[in-house]
Amino acid sequence: MLELKDITKSFGDTHVLNGISLAIGDGQIMSILGPSGGGKTTLLNIILGISQPTSGQIVYNGEDLTNVPMEKRGFNIVFQDYALFPNLNAYENITYGLKNNPGISTEKEIKEMISLLGLEEHLTKKIDELSGGQKQRVALARTLVMKPKLLLDEPLSALDGVIKESIKSKIKQIVNQYNLTTIMVTHDPEEACTMSDKVLILNQGRIAQFASPDDIIHHPASEFVRKFILHQLEVKRNNIYTLFNEDGSPAAKQPALAGQEA
Ligand SMILES: Nc1ncnc2c1ncn2[C@@H]1O[C@H](COP(=O)(O)OP(=O)(O)O)[C@@H](O)[C@H]1O
Ligand SMILES: [Mg+2]
Repeated sequence: MLELKDITKSFGDTHVLNGISLAIGDGQIMSILGPSGGGKTTLLNIILGISQPTSGQIVYNGEDLTNVPMEKRGFNIVFQDYALFPNLNAYENITYGLKNNPGISTEKEIKEMISLLGLEEHLTKKIDELSGGQKQRVALARTLVMKPKLLLDEPLSALDGVIKESIKSKIKQIVNQYNLTTIMVTHDPEEACTMSDKVLILNQGRIAQFASPDDIIHHPASEFVRKFILHQLEVKRNNIYTLFNEDGSPAAKQPALAGQEA
């Protein structure tokens, strides 16, 4: 279990995070959602250990990690820009971290991860010969072969729809298979609510709501959550219904469609 206990973060007089307390169980996926500047990246950096909180504690399975350096926490992140080495091919990127830590993953486990992420045909390609989705899968494989205790992830938003859906289902499969606790930042309420056990909504450095997707949708904690999350989901739902005409009439009422019928 990962516990955050009353985390705060200030840069000079600017309070970026305030009173962040929550717990995530092993093998759970938590999404962090909220407006730009709300503190998502700052919180991710504090959990990873890139940045120190101003006050509060980070506790993992009962151990206080607040002052434990990043490399000793055993957490790992897929960076937003993937941070792959352009001079190495896909396979060399995936296994790079194992050079100095041989034995963390066996040859067989590396093969399994490559196959799970569908990267077999791309292993000898240079990074600039890969598509965005392939790069992301290489970055994910490189992180996962290091067997992190906790996976942090910020990059899904850069991908187009179909690729994103396929990577989402891969991540879910891996999280289940390896019981891997995962924290991901996203800008998309639909992604947060379909991927996660828990959603953390951050607004101006405070927890607007920390709950299951079901709770957030049926019991939004505030007007902000209602507007920010539910409104976006409802717009999406209405658009889809309009396209497929599943709630009765709206599609038929559209002039273009009515015209085609006539
Ligand atoms: N190193 C820093 N120095 C000063 N202010 C910072 C620093 N890093 C982030 N901030 C401020 O903290 C706030 C939260 O930023 P961030 O965590 O990046 O938000 P998000 O990822 O939700 O967009 C912003 O107002 C940002 O300007
Ligand atoms: Mg950010």
